[in-house]
Amino acid sequence: MSNNQVIIFDTTLRDGEQSPGASMTRDEKLCIAKQLEKMRVDVIEAGFAIASPGDFASVKAIAEAVTESTVCSLSRALDADIDRAGEALLNAASGRIHTFIATSPIHMKYKLQMEPDQVIENAVRAVRRAHNLISDVEFSLEDASRSELDFMCRIIEKVIDAGARTINIPDTVGYAVPEEFGYTIRQLLERIPNADKAIFSVHCHNDLGLAVANSLAAVSAGARQVECTINGLGERAGNASLEEIVMALRTRRDHLGLETGIDTTQIVPASRLVSSVTGFPVQPNKAIVGANAFAHESGIHQDGVLKHRETYEIMTAQDVGWNTNRMVMGKHSGRNAFRSRLEELGTSFSSDAELNNAFARFKDLADKKHEIFDEDLVALVSDTRAAD
Ligand code: KIV
Ligand code: ZN
Repeated sequence: MSNNQVIIFDTTLRDGEQSPGASMTRDEKLCIAKQLEKMRVDVIEAGFAIASPGDFASVKAIAEAVTESTVCSLSRALDADIDRAGEALLNAASGRIHTFIATSPIHMKYKLQMEPDQVIENAVRAVRRAHNLISDVEFSLEDASRSELDFMCRIIEKVIDAGARTINIPDTVGYAVPEEFGYTIRQLLERIPNADKAIFSVHCHNDLGLAVANSLAAVSAGARQVECTINGLGERAGNASLEEIVMALRTRRDHLGLETGIDTTQIVPASRLVSSVTGFPVQPNKAIVGANAFAHESGIHQDGVLKHRETYEIMTAQDVGWNTNRMVMGKHSGRNAFRSRLEELGTSFSSDAELNNAFARFKDLADKKHEIFDEDLVALVSDTRAAD
């Protein structure tokens, strides 16, 4: 894998499912996993095998059905969790155990009630145990963004020696800001003597709306795996959104110099599938996959796009799986877009006067209606002609 390739690790089926009300059946998860594989996601986190018999069955079914992506199960740093994850992944063409323990002072003291040295011991034991079951082991430092840098360096060096090949730095509570998060990643890569033996990953939550920005700061600083979800689904305010990360890397390749292996034309189908399975609608103004992401209403914008698409579009609708961009007819639309839409509908005007007349009626109607549909336009032109 080249050094400018970013691994896309999708956790829609694990962290995404932890979103209240988003739980999915085994068959629904299988269907989403097949779409993620079609989209060429590198790693699919299929679930948390020990969480329930249903989750175990889902991870196992996905591990057996998916051959082109690595299939991963989460596990705490506990023997029983790791063994259950290993069992679920037994038939995977390419499987990964992802084990984690919290490393921030607040989590160690109140949640784990462990001393830092005990946390290191548990982490090393967990990674060794996982590594005995499977060669591909990922280790996460839960609440890394509130952990001490020196402590993170100590634990990471030891888990790499124990066999971890991916080190994930989560911003578990969405607390980081981009410059600081990028600095942390850079420091870890510089200070840990065996850092070159592992791929550094990030996993950002969106509590301050910064999950994507933090992930991009991290890849600029040297991280080479991003954990994300379709539509940004996930705990609380969600995880970094896959579609935004992938399209930011692709659209700003000139600046970031990085790429992914994702087939971006599968993004909108994946978004629709996840939305229909979970019942979570996608807001219209959501970047990339919202219904308005490629819609133009104002006259100035419509005129610009009709003259040259790139005046107001930084990627094409087709690049991400929409059929086309959309000119929305409303009160801000201009005469040029009005005429162009009617020509597409098979109506042309015999004179400027006829166009002006119909356009004036359109503006009257647009003041009364949010959006004017094709049928409204056609009816309006025939009414204008009948009245003339
Ligand atoms: O947010 C988080 O810290 C997690 C870990 C389990 C990776 O989801
Ligand atoms: Zn998470």
